[in-house]
Amino acid sequence: MARSKPDPPSANPPIERGPVPLPRGPNATAHPRPLKLGLIGIGVGAAEVLPAMESHEGIDLVAGADVNDEVRERFKARYPGARTYDSADKLVADPDIEAVWIATPNRFHAPHTILAAEHGKHVVVEKPMGLNIQQAEQMVAAADKYGVKLLAGHTRSFTLPIRMMRKIITSGKLGKLCAAHIWSYSDWMLRPRTPDELDLSQGGGIPYRQGPHQIDTIRVLGGGKLRSVRGMTGQWMEARPIPGYYSAYLEFEDGTPCTIMHNSYGYFVGAELVPWGESKQHYDVQKRVEIRRSLRTGTRNEAQDKQDMRIGGSMEHVVRDRSDRRAWVPEDMGMLVVSCERGDIRHSKFGLYVYDDEGGIRDIELSEGAMGRRAELDELYNAIVLDKPVFHDGRWGMATLEVCLAIMESARERREIMLTHQIAVPADYDADLDVPI
Ligand SMILES: NC(=O)c1ccc[n+]([C@@H]2O[C@H](COP(=O)([O-])OP(=O)(O)OC[C@H]3O[C@@H](n4cnc5c(N)ncnc54)[C@H](O)[C@@H]3O)[C@@H](O)[C@H]2O)c1
Repeated sequence: MARSKPDPPSANPPIERGPVPLPRGPNATAHPRPLKLGLIGIGVGAAEVLPAMESHEGIDLVAGADVNDEVRERFKARYPGARTYDSADKLVADPDIEAVWIATPNRFHAPHTILAAEHGKHVVVEKPMGLNIQQAEQMVAAADKYGVKLLAGHTRSFTLPIRMMRKIITSGKLGKLCAAHIWSYSDWMLRPRTPDELDLSQGGGIPYRQGPHQIDTIRVLGGGKLRSVRGMTGQWMEARPIPGYYSAYLEFEDGTPCTIMHNSYGYFVGAELVPWGESKQHYDVQKRVEIRRSLRTGTRNEAQDKQDMRIGGSMEHVVRDRSDRRAWVPEDMGMLVVSCERGDIRHSKFGLYVYDDEGGIRDIELSEGAMGRRAELDELYNAIVLDKPVFHDGRWGMATLEVCLAIMESARERREIMLTHQIAVPADYDADLDVPI
């Protein structure tokens, strides 16, 4: 892939690029029949995942439910063949639907999952899985009781670069994992928010909303079982009464140290770190200034701004990425650096940089769609139609939620929190992916 600017800087040794065989796995799945899927909650998160649903050969999006009339009309206009419902209850009663994708506000994740399970529907639930461990336990119990598959959709950890990093780590080719660090600087706090998103008790704030991406990623990389968490949260924007910042030290059972951090106040944004990042930002600097001002003066029409980002809205294009070849940008998930005994790994524009003992840097380009939302749908499809195991299941999601909650508890109590719900990455996870080095 030609580059206009060298990256990393030219002081480094020349980058050795591929050719690396495209991995088998995510895109190599056969689709003997379509899976009939219903979407509950047609909001901004849904707008993000809809392109992947549209392009997935095995997914048949047959219905959508939302309490918002305009959103339902726009959904109907885009998918005339799909049915629309004004409640989750009505959608789950549709006998044609096999599985549901739950993208309603966080406080509904548990009740809607349990409702769907009671109606025999398989479930993908957006992050965070629930608001507390009790809810997560009830969700797992409902899936077990009604014999449905429950998948915790934690998005970023499903992407191919993260899974390839894990393959390299577990192959031992760079020696054992020694540390992993993720730093994110985003403008998440400046994006339009509904009242429930500004209420911590309803799952508002950056630890609940963005913590799961980083935590799940760290758990995938390090084998799943964290031992303890020391965290701190921060809240320093008057118009936003929820934490917009956290940092946390996470330690695996074997002592491997990791840190995660997200600052979402949108002064410095991570997308600035790569030459192609500007076009991937939600807002440019001027717009961020205007938003801050309107939040301070109470003049922002936040409900309208949010509606504009949902399906068919004038700002939907900001979240609706339909490109097959999506470039990585250190935006919401942030900048991840994995350190092993004999090398480091981080994202490149279309894959991974692997730094080795000889001073080499390999740019391993990954297949189309590697950064996108397809992998969650693949895992769902494979589980239901091909009867393959779900890896990111309810218990896995509960373990990630536990860490998220522990960051907030640690911040409140100023102490290390010991974890009790952690589970390991199954040994056969991604068995069909080749190690790329
Ligand atoms: N995986 C990701 O990367 C990602 C990205 C964005 C959002 N999300 C998740 O999606 C969820 C929604 O966030 P959002 O930003 O899309 O918010 P949103 O408000 O835009 O979307 C929620 C939608 O649910 C609808 N809704 C509310 N109550 C409902 C009910 N009882 N029944 C049916 N529909 C109902 C709303 O009208 C709205 O359209 C959150 O849990 C968030 O964490 C995930």
